[in-house]
Amino acid sequence: KRVAILISGRGSNMRSLIEAAEDTDFPAEIVLVLANRPDAGGLAVAREAGIATAVVDHKAYPKDRPGFDAAVDAALRAADVELVCLAGFMRLLTPGFVEGWRDRMINIHPSLLPLFPGLHTHERAIEAGMRITGCTVHYVRPEMDSGPIIAQAAVPIAFDDTPETLAARVLSSEHEIYPLALALVAAGLVRVENERLIVDPSL
Ligand code: GRF
Repeated sequence: KRVAILISGRGSNMRSLIEAAEDTDFPAEIVLVLANRPDAGGLAVAREAGIATAVVDHKAYPKDRPGFDAAVDAALRAADVELVCLAGFMRLLTPGFVEGWRDRMINIHPSLLPLFPGLHTHERAIEAGMRITGCTVHYVRPEMDSGPIIAQAAVPIAFDDTPETLAARVLSSEHEIYPLALALVAAGLVRVENERLIVDPSL
């Protein structure tokens, strides 16, 4: 499957996907990395890995989310993309765009969804007194951080964790489960039916 990764920042999850896809047995090929910010650190990493990059600067579309999304969609189609991975992509996408990529777009989120959608997940998990948190890869739906769950990992919260130390521990788990989840989707070993994950009997 031809895969695009959408990023906004440093792109460490993007890097984990690129590295996994370098394996010839991996069922997906990363053909495009697209950022909504020209200064996204991950762009250089992608270029070094020999992957085509694109920037659709959201600042060029003031108060025009449909226009921004149409430009992203055009870039994806021009690259014959079949699957989209959101990896630290910090823009809300319009329902029209999300529906256009329904069941062909996945996201990683740094909490055990449906707990803690949105921002500042680690701060909120610590504040709530949670003793574990984690990360989730899920199919994307128009409502932020929702959609059928493909993979999760649980991560312990230490008594002396700060949001930063916890974020680092969760991030290592993100780097493990995102390539795994992408492989499952790209190989057709999971799919969605009635908003439930259907897993291939061979798993
Ligand atoms: C990750 O924690 C991801 O789950 C969240 O934003 C962070 C992006 O990190 N949505 P990176 O750009 O992949 O390093």
